[in-house]
Amino acid sequence: MTLFDRWTSALDQLRGQGRYRQFAVPDGIDFTSNDYLGYASLPNPPCPDLSRSGTASRLLRGHHPVWDEVESALSAWHGAEAVLMMTSGYAANEGLISTVMEPGDWVATDELNHACIVDGLRLAKCRRFVFRHNDLNHLEEGLKSEAARCETGRERFIITESLFSMDGDRAPLREIADLADRYGAHLVVDEAHSTGCYGPYGSGCVDEAGLRSRVLASVHTGGKALSLPGAYIAGSKLLTEYLTNRCRHLIFTTALPPAVGAWWLAGLPRVQSDHNRRLWLENKAARFRAELAARGVRAGGTEYIVPVVIGDDARAVAAATRLQEEGFDVRAIRPPSVPPGTARLRISIHADHEPAVLIRLAESVADALSHV
Ligand SMILES: Cc1ncc(COP(=O)(O)O)c(C=O)c1O
Repeated sequence: MTLFDRWTSALDQLRGQGRYRQFAVPDGIDFTSNDYLGYASLPNPPCPDLSRSGTASRLLRGHHPVWDEVESALSAWHGAEAVLMMTSGYAANEGLISTVMEPGDWVATDELNHACIVDGLRLAKCRRFVFRHNDLNHLEEGLKSEAARCETGRERFIITESLFSMDGDRAPLREIADLADRYGAHLVVDEAHSTGCYGPYGSGCVDEAGLRSRVLASVHTGGKALSLPGAYIAGSKLLTEYLTNRCRHLIFTTALPPAVGAWWLAGLPRVQSDHNRRLWLENKAARFRAELAARGVRAGGTEYIVPVVIGDDARAVAAATRLQEEGFDVRAIRPPSVPPGTARLRISIHADHEPAVLIRLAESVADALSHV
Protein backbone atom coordinates (compact mmCIF):
# COMPACT_ATOMS: atom_id res chain seq x y z
CA MET A 1 0.00 0.00 0.00
CA THR A 2 1.49 3.37 -1.00
CA LEU A 3 1.22 6.49 1.12
CA PHE A 4 -1.36 7.83 -1.34
CA ASP A 5 -3.40 4.62 -1.04
CA ARG A 6 -3.31 5.03 2.72
CA TRP A 7 -4.70 8.55 2.51
CA THR A 8 -7.30 7.63 -0.09
CA SER A 9 -8.59 4.75 1.96
CA ALA A 10 -8.70 6.89 5.14
CA LEU A 11 -10.70 9.53 3.27
CA ASP A 12 -13.02 6.87 1.83
CA GLN A 13 -13.58 5.56 5.32
CA LEU A 14 -14.48 9.07 6.55
CA ARG A 15 -16.93 9.45 3.66
CA GLY A 16 -18.47 6.10 4.53
CA GLN A 17 -18.87 7.18 8.17
CA GLY A 18 -20.42 10.52 7.22
CA ARG A 19 -17.38 12.29 8.76
CA TYR A 20 -15.73 13.69 5.66
CA ARG A 21 -14.91 17.40 6.08
CA GLN A 22 -14.47 20.17 3.57
CA PHE A 23 -14.49 23.95 3.48
CA ALA A 24 -17.74 25.69 2.67
CA VAL A 25 -18.00 29.38 1.89
CA PRO A 26 -20.23 30.91 4.60
CA ASP A 27 -23.76 31.41 3.43
CA GLY A 28 -26.99 32.18 5.28
CA ILE A 29 -27.62 33.76 8.68
CA ASP A 30 -24.68 32.99 10.94
CA PHE A 31 -25.54 30.56 13.72
CA THR A 32 -22.17 28.83 13.51
CA SER A 33 -19.34 31.24 14.24
CA ASN A 34 -18.24 32.22 17.74
CA ASP A 35 -18.97 35.89 17.07
CA TYR A 36 -21.16 35.97 20.17
CA LEU A 37 -21.17 39.74 20.59
CA GLY A 38 -21.68 40.40 16.88
CA TYR A 39 -18.46 42.38 16.38
CA ALA A 40 -17.27 40.56 13.25
CA SER A 41 -19.64 42.51 11.01
CA LEU A 42 -18.85 45.90 12.58
CA PRO A 43 -15.98 48.08 11.35
CA ASN A 44 -12.82 48.05 13.46
CA PRO A 45 -12.64 51.00 15.83
CA PRO A 46 -10.13 53.51 14.41
CA CYS A 47 -6.50 52.74 15.25
CA PRO A 48 -2.98 53.52 14.01
CA ASP A 49 -1.82 51.59 10.95
CA LEU A 50 1.23 49.82 12.36
CA SER A 51 3.36 47.26 10.52
CA ARG A 52 1.44 44.37 9.02
CA SER A 53 4.16 41.84 9.61
CA GLY A 54 5.61 40.34 12.78
CA THR A 55 8.76 39.39 10.80
CA ALA A 56 10.44 37.41 13.62
CA SER A 57 9.87 35.75 16.96
CA ARG A 58 8.88 38.22 19.64
CA LEU A 59 12.16 37.46 21.36
CA LEU A 60 14.03 38.71 18.28
CA ARG A 61 12.77 41.64 16.18
CA GLY A 62 9.11 40.59 16.46
CA HIS A 63 8.52 42.62 19.60
CA HIS A 64 6.86 46.04 19.36
CA PRO A 65 5.96 48.45 22.20
CA VAL A 66 2.29 48.07 21.28
CA TRP A 67 2.39 44.58 22.84
CA ASP A 68 3.50 46.01 26.19
CA GLU A 69 0.49 48.30 26.05
CA VAL A 70 -1.87 45.50 25.08
CA GLU A 71 -0.58 43.23 27.83
CA SER A 72 -0.87 45.89 30.49
CA ALA A 73 -4.42 46.77 29.33
CA LEU A 74 -5.36 43.08 29.50
CA SER A 75 -3.74 42.63 32.94
CA ALA A 76 -5.76 45.58 34.22
CA TRP A 77 -8.97 44.14 32.72
CA HIS A 78 -8.49 40.86 34.58
CA GLY A 79 -6.86 42.28 37.68
CA ALA A 80 -4.06 39.82 36.87
CA GLU A 81 -0.43 40.44 37.64
CA ALA A 82 0.65 39.74 34.08
CA VAL A 83 -0.51 38.72 30.62
CA LEU A 84 1.41 37.11 27.77
CA MET A 85 0.14 37.38 24.19
CA MET A 86 0.21 34.23 22.08
CA THR A 87 -0.59 33.70 18.41
CA SER A 88 -3.71 31.59 18.97
CA GLY A 89 -5.73 29.95 21.71
CA TYR A 90 -4.53 26.60 20.44
CA ALA A 91 -0.89 27.64 20.85
CA ALA A 92 -1.65 29.27 24.21
CA ASN A 93 -3.20 26.14 25.73
CA GLU A 94 -0.78 23.67 24.19
CA GLY A 95 2.21 25.89 25.01
CA LEU A 96 1.16 26.67 28.57
CA ILE A 97 0.35 23.08 29.44
CA SER A 98 3.40 21.51 27.83
CA THR A 99 5.70 24.06 29.48
CA VAL A 100 4.25 24.12 32.97
CA MET A 101 3.16 20.51 33.46
CA GLU A 102 6.06 18.07 33.58
CA PRO A 103 6.46 14.30 33.40
CA GLY A 104 5.51 12.97 36.83
CA ASP A 105 3.09 15.83 37.52
CA TRP A 106 -0.56 14.83 37.83
CA VAL A 107 -3.31 16.60 35.91
CA ALA A 108 -7.05 16.23 36.29
CA THR A 109 -8.75 17.20 33.04
CA ASP A 110 -12.46 17.33 32.18
CA GLU A 111 -13.36 14.68 29.60
CA LEU A 112 -14.82 17.35 27.31
CA ASN A 113 -11.83 19.69 27.33
CA HIS A 114 -10.79 21.01 23.92
CA ALA A 115 -8.36 19.23 21.59
CA CYS A 116 -5.58 21.77 22.28
CA ILE A 117 -5.73 20.92 25.99
CA VAL A 118 -5.59 17.22 25.16
CA ASP A 119 -2.63 17.82 22.85
CA GLY A 120 -0.84 19.96 25.45
CA LEU A 121 -1.19 17.14 27.96
CA ARG A 122 0.17 14.65 25.44
CA LEU A 123 3.21 16.84 24.90
CA ALA A 124 3.66 17.37 28.64
CA LYS A 125 3.83 13.58 29.15
CA CYS A 126 2.34 14.11 32.61
CA ARG A 127 0.06 11.67 34.37
CA ARG A 128 -3.55 12.31 33.40
CA PHE A 129 -6.78 11.77 35.26
CA VAL A 130 -9.75 12.34 32.97
CA PHE A 131 -12.78 13.17 35.11
CA ARG A 132 -16.35 12.84 33.95
CA HIS A 133 -17.72 16.06 32.58
CA ASN A 134 -18.32 18.59 35.38
CA ASP A 135 -18.46 15.73 37.90
CA LEU A 136 -17.11 17.10 41.18
CA ASN A 137 -17.33 13.73 42.94
CA HIS A 138 -15.27 12.04 40.29
CA LEU A 139 -12.75 14.89 40.35
CA GLU A 140 -12.49 14.60 44.12
CA GLU A 141 -12.00 10.83 43.91
CA GLY A 142 -9.02 11.44 41.63
CA LEU A 143 -7.59 14.15 43.86
CA LYS A 144 -7.99 11.95 46.95
CA SER A 145 -6.23 8.97 45.48
CA GLU A 146 -3.47 11.17 44.08
CA ALA A 147 -3.05 12.86 47.49
CA ALA A 148 -2.74 9.42 49.11
CA ARG A 149 0.35 8.70 47.00
CA CYS A 150 2.15 11.47 48.91
CA GLU A 151 4.81 11.94 46.23
CA THR A 152 7.04 14.88 46.94
CA GLY A 153 8.25 17.29 44.28
CA ARG A 154 5.33 16.41 42.01
CA GLU A 155 2.70 19.03 41.29
CA ARG A 156 -1.04 18.57 40.87
CA PHE A 157 -3.16 20.53 38.42
CA ILE A 158 -6.81 20.76 37.43
CA ILE A 159 -7.72 22.06 34.00
CA THR A 160 -11.18 22.90 32.71
CA GLU A 161 -12.94 25.11 30.23
CA SER A 162 -15.22 27.68 31.85
CA LEU A 163 -17.89 27.49 29.11
CA PHE A 164 -17.78 24.24 27.16
CA SER A 165 -17.51 24.84 23.45
CA MET A 166 -19.68 22.02 22.16
CA ASP A 167 -22.03 21.60 25.13
CA GLY A 168 -22.87 25.16 26.11
CA ASP A 169 -22.67 24.49 29.83
CA ARG A 170 -20.49 26.14 32.43
CA ALA A 171 -17.99 24.48 34.74
CA PRO A 172 -18.72 24.80 38.48
CA LEU A 173 -15.63 26.96 38.87
CA ARG A 174 -16.05 27.93 42.52
CA GLU A 175 -16.47 24.33 43.60
CA ILE A 176 -13.53 23.25 41.45
CA ALA A 177 -11.40 26.01 43.00
CA ASP A 178 -12.42 24.77 46.47
CA LEU A 179 -11.30 21.25 45.57
CA ALA A 180 -8.06 22.62 44.13
CA ASP A 181 -7.37 24.45 47.39
CA ARG A 182 -8.33 21.47 49.55
CA TYR A 183 -6.02 19.08 47.69
CA GLY A 184 -3.19 21.47 46.86
CA ALA A 185 -3.77 21.54 43.10
CA HIS A 186 -3.15 24.43 40.71
CA LEU A 187 -6.17 25.47 38.65
CA VAL A 188 -5.97 26.38 34.95
CA VAL A 189 -9.11 27.66 33.19
CA ASP A 190 -9.64 27.93 29.45
CA GLU A 191 -11.90 30.95 28.92
CA ALA A 192 -11.99 30.72 25.12
CA HIS A 193 -15.78 30.93 24.89
CA SER A 194 -16.34 33.15 27.93
CA THR A 195 -13.99 36.04 27.22
CA GLY A 196 -15.99 39.17 26.42
CA CYS A 197 -19.28 37.69 27.55
CA TYR A 198 -19.27 37.22 31.34
CA GLY A 199 -18.29 39.04 34.43
CA PRO A 200 -17.51 42.60 35.30
CA TYR A 201 -16.74 44.34 32.02
CA GLY A 202 -16.75 41.06 30.12
CA SER A 203 -13.45 39.68 31.32
CA GLY A 204 -14.77 36.13 31.77
CA CYS A 205 -16.02 33.57 34.28
CA VAL A 206 -12.90 33.49 36.48
CA ASP A 207 -13.28 37.19 37.23
CA GLU A 208 -17.06 36.94 37.50
CA ALA A 209 -16.59 34.33 40.24
CA GLY A 210 -13.86 36.38 41.96
CA LEU A 211 -11.34 33.59 41.46
CA ARG A 212 -8.46 35.51 39.92
CA SER A 213 -6.14 35.02 42.87
CA ARG A 214 -7.02 31.32 43.05
CA VAL A 215 -6.16 30.31 39.48
CA LEU A 216 -2.67 29.62 38.26
CA ALA A 217 -3.59 30.82 34.79
CA SER A 218 -6.53 31.57 32.55
CA VAL A 219 -6.34 31.25 28.78
CA HIS A 220 -8.24 33.64 26.50
CA THR A 221 -8.61 33.90 22.76
CA GLY A 222 -9.44 36.97 20.72
CA GLY A 223 -10.77 34.76 17.94
CA LYS A 224 -14.25 34.30 19.34
CA ALA A 225 -16.37 37.03 21.00
CA LEU A 226 -13.64 39.68 20.78
CA SER A 227 -13.28 39.20 17.02
CA LEU A 228 -9.52 39.85 17.24
CA PRO A 229 -6.61 37.71 16.01
CA GLY A 230 -4.42 36.14 18.68
CA ALA A 231 -4.81 34.97 22.25
CA TYR A 232 -3.25 35.38 25.67
CA ILE A 233 -2.48 33.79 29.01
CA ALA A 234 -3.21 35.68 32.26
CA GLY A 235 -1.38 34.79 35.46
CA SER A 236 1.49 35.85 37.66
CA LYS A 237 4.59 37.75 36.56
CA LEU A 238 6.68 34.71 37.39
CA LEU A 239 4.51 32.52 35.16
CA THR A 240 4.78 34.83 32.14
CA GLU A 241 8.52 35.25 32.73
CA TYR A 242 8.92 31.47 32.84
CA LEU A 243 6.83 31.02 29.68
CA THR A 244 8.80 33.72 27.88
CA ASN A 245 11.93 31.70 28.57
CA ARG A 246 10.61 28.18 28.14
CA CYS A 247 7.45 28.06 26.06
CA ARG A 248 8.28 26.72 22.61
CA HIS A 249 4.96 27.95 21.21
CA LEU A 250 6.09 31.51 21.96
CA ILE A 251 9.82 31.26 21.31
CA PHE A 252 9.78 29.41 18.00
CA THR A 253 7.05 31.27 16.17
CA THR A 254 6.70 34.60 14.38
CA ALA A 255 5.12 37.32 16.51
CA LEU A 256 1.69 38.67 15.64
CA PRO A 257 1.92 41.82 13.50
CA PRO A 258 1.98 45.13 15.44
CA ALA A 259 -1.11 46.24 13.47
CA VAL A 260 -2.97 43.49 15.30
CA GLY A 261 -1.79 44.97 18.61
CA ALA A 262 -3.32 48.29 17.56
CA TRP A 263 -6.62 46.50 16.87
CA TRP A 264 -6.54 45.00 20.35
CA LEU A 265 -5.96 48.41 21.95
CA ALA A 266 -8.84 49.88 19.96
CA GLY A 267 -11.16 46.90 20.47
CA LEU A 268 -10.74 46.40 24.21
CA PRO A 269 -12.52 49.54 25.46
CA ARG A 270 -15.46 48.66 23.21
CA VAL A 271 -15.94 45.23 24.72
CA GLN A 272 -15.31 46.44 28.27
CA SER A 273 -18.08 49.04 28.08
CA ASP A 274 -20.51 46.99 25.98
CA HIS A 275 -22.86 45.89 28.77
CA ASN A 276 -25.80 46.10 26.35
CA ARG A 277 -24.48 43.44 24.03
CA ARG A 278 -23.80 41.11 26.94
CA LEU A 279 -27.38 41.61 28.08
CA TRP A 280 -28.80 41.10 24.58
CA LEU A 281 -26.78 37.91 24.25
CA GLU A 282 -28.09 36.52 27.52
CA ASN A 283 -31.70 37.45 26.70
CA LYS A 284 -31.58 36.12 23.16
CA ALA A 285 -30.06 32.82 24.23
CA ALA A 286 -32.79 32.42 26.87
CA ARG A 287 -35.47 33.34 24.32
CA PHE A 288 -34.17 30.88 21.74
CA ARG A 289 -33.98 28.10 24.32
CA ALA A 290 -37.59 28.85 25.35
CA GLU A 291 -38.72 28.78 21.69
CA LEU A 292 -37.06 25.38 21.20
CA ALA A 293 -38.59 24.00 24.40
CA ALA A 294 -42.05 25.25 23.36
CA ARG A 295 -41.68 23.09 20.23
CA GLY A 296 -40.56 20.03 22.15
CA VAL A 297 -36.89 20.31 21.13
CA ARG A 298 -34.45 19.37 23.88
CA ALA A 299 -31.30 21.45 23.85
CA GLY A 300 -28.21 20.85 25.96
CA GLY A 301 -26.35 23.38 28.08
CA THR A 302 -27.66 26.62 29.47
CA GLU A 303 -25.92 29.44 27.62
CA TYR A 304 -25.60 31.00 24.16
CA ILE A 305 -23.99 27.87 22.70
CA VAL A 306 -27.05 25.70 22.08
CA PRO A 307 -26.36 22.05 21.20
CA VAL A 308 -29.16 19.87 19.89
CA VAL A 309 -27.79 16.36 20.13
CA ILE A 310 -29.03 14.02 17.38
CA GLY A 311 -26.60 11.13 17.86
CA ASP A 312 -26.13 9.67 14.42
CA ASP A 313 -23.63 11.51 12.19
CA ALA A 314 -25.63 11.22 8.96
CA ARG A 315 -28.86 12.39 10.60
CA ALA A 316 -27.09 15.39 12.10
CA VAL A 317 -25.71 16.30 8.67
CA ALA A 318 -29.15 15.87 7.08
CA ALA A 319 -30.74 18.14 9.71
CA ALA A 320 -28.04 20.79 9.21
CA THR A 321 -28.49 20.60 5.43
CA ARG A 322 -32.23 21.26 5.78
CA LEU A 323 -31.55 24.31 7.94
CA GLN A 324 -28.96 25.59 5.48
CA GLU A 325 -31.48 25.23 2.66
CA GLU A 326 -33.76 27.52 4.64
CA GLY A 327 -31.05 30.17 4.94
CA PHE A 328 -29.64 29.34 8.40
CA ASP A 329 -25.93 28.63 8.63
CA VAL A 330 -26.08 25.84 11.20
CA ARG A 331 -23.49 23.07 11.01
CA ALA A 332 -23.43 19.48 12.16
CA ILE A 333 -20.68 18.74 14.67
CA ARG A 334 -19.41 15.18 14.46
CA PRO A 335 -16.69 13.10 16.09
CA PRO A 336 -13.85 13.64 16.81
CA SER A 337 -15.04 17.15 17.77
CA VAL A 338 -17.64 15.46 20.00
CA PRO A 339 -17.76 11.90 21.42
CA PRO A 340 -19.02 9.15 19.06
CA GLY A 341 -22.80 8.81 19.06
CA THR A 342 -23.37 12.45 20.05
CA ALA A 343 -23.31 14.22 16.67
CA ARG A 344 -25.27 17.42 17.01
CA LEU A 345 -26.38 20.74 15.70
CA ARG A 346 -24.33 23.40 17.46
CA ILE A 347 -26.29 26.64 17.32
CA SER A 348 -24.39 29.74 18.31
CA ILE A 349 -26.58 32.67 19.36
CA HIS A 350 -25.25 36.19 18.80
CA ALA A 351 -26.17 39.45 20.50
CA ASP A 352 -27.42 40.92 17.22
CA HIS A 353 -29.73 38.10 16.12
CA GLU A 354 -33.26 39.38 15.55
CA PRO A 355 -35.94 37.77 17.77
CA ALA A 356 -38.09 36.98 14.71
CA VAL A 357 -35.18 35.08 13.16
CA LEU A 358 -34.68 33.12 16.38
CA ILE A 359 -38.33 32.07 16.31
CA ARG A 360 -38.09 31.01 12.65
CA LEU A 361 -34.95 29.01 13.40
CA ALA A 362 -36.60 27.26 16.36
CA GLU A 363 -39.51 26.28 14.05
CA SER A 364 -37.09 25.03 11.42
CA VAL A 365 -35.07 23.00 13.92
CA ALA A 366 -38.23 21.30 15.19
CA ASP A 367 -39.28 20.61 11.60
CA ALA A 368 -35.84 19.30 10.59
CA LEU A 369 -35.74 16.93 13.57
CA SER A 370 -39.08 15.43 12.61
CA HIS A 371 -37.81 14.73 9.07
CA VAL A 372 -34.40 13.14 9.60
C1 LIG B 1 -12.31 25.69 24.28
C2 LIG B 1 -11.34 26.17 23.27
N1 LIG B 1 -10.09 26.44 23.65
C3 LIG B 1 -9.18 26.89 22.77
C4 LIG B 1 -9.49 27.06 21.43
C5 LIG B 1 -8.45 27.53 20.48
O1 LIG B 1 -8.54 28.90 20.28
P1 LIG B 1 -8.06 29.55 18.91
O2 LIG B 1 -9.20 29.39 17.96
O3 LIG B 1 -7.75 30.97 19.24
O4 LIG B 1 -6.86 28.78 18.46
C6 LIG B 1 -10.79 26.79 20.99
C7 LIG B 1 -11.14 26.98 19.55
O5 LIG B 1 -11.91 26.32 18.98
C8 LIG B 1 -11.74 26.34 21.93
O6 LIG B 1 -13.00 26.05 21.56
